[in-house]
Amino acid sequence: MEATKERIAKGYSHSAPRYDALAGHLYLMGIRRLLPRARTGPMPAILDVGCGTGVNLLEAARWFAPARQLCGIDISPGMVSVAAAKAAALGIPATFTVGDAEQLPYDSGQFDLIICNSVLHWFKDRGAALREIGRVLKPGGQLLLICAASPGFREWFAFTDQLRQLIGLAPHPSLVPNLPTAVEVGGLMQEAGFVLDHLANPVHLQQITDYESFIQLMSTVAPLWSADLPPELEQTVEQLAAKLMRAAFPGSFPSTWAAIEAVGTRIP
Ligand SMILES: C[S@@+](CC[C@H](N)C(=O)[O-])C[C@H]1O[C@@H](n2cnc3c(N)ncnc32)[C@H](O)[C@@H]1O
Repeated sequence: MEATKERIAKGYSHSAPRYDALAGHLYLMGIRRLLPRARTGPMPAILDVGCGTGVNLLEAARWFAPARQLCGIDISPGMVSVAAAKAAALGIPATFTVGDAEQLPYDSGQFDLIICNSVLHWFKDRGAALREIGRVLKPGGQLLLICAASPGFREWFAFTDQLRQLIGLAPHPSLVPNLPTAVEVGGLMQEAGFVLDHLANPVHLQQITDYESFIQLMSTVAPLWSADLPPELEQTVEQLAAKLMRAAFPGSFPSTWAAIEAVGTRIP
């Protein structure tokens, strides 16, 4: 596996135990906005690409019950084991696989609906990833896509770059490729063989006042900025980060949140 993907897998496995408690509700809100746009018929076969702890697939299982097939795939073993444990506890017959979304281990045309929430921005070649999703989707099947967008998290990226410098770490490796715009993602979906049913680009400028919670949240949902730190230093660095943020941004830390929400139908 290439080095960046190894870091992603390791970073999210580290996040997995606290992911749902800190962030699960945020991802749930996103997929709940898109599920009503699905025109999937009865008993759909559903795939969740980059399923994480299974938040989206388990919500879709509830929405479409009964589903014919429920599959989730994620590169992070820690996330997959949390997802599998939740499905077992809920009695939902979902199958979770550790694997790379850029080479999906499924047959062409296997799924009626694919969900991909907050994953696409990690891919270097997003067009190829969308073509791969299109391959395993039935003609006429739908993709519910959410991903981080430009100029999201710009203040956070600048802050963590400076923090790494301050504590003597090498500059932040450019692990998150440049975040895309809605126009770019819409274009890539069309090139990959989708007709766009919906494309939105919500952007908010948040004023963060609870620095500790925000840093914990960001370190959980985007764990790579600190993935090369020894685990025993994690808490100390998070506390230091909160102190520095408070000192540098007294009152509040501005944080741009920007997403792309898209629904596409695979051209028959
Ligand atoms: C921000 S989390 C989102 C998880 C989930 N979709 C949700 O909405 O809660 C990003 C997820 O993408 C996964 N991921 C990143 N690159 C991947 C790849 N190439 N293949 C499969 N999963 C990947 C990570 O392991 C992580 O679980």
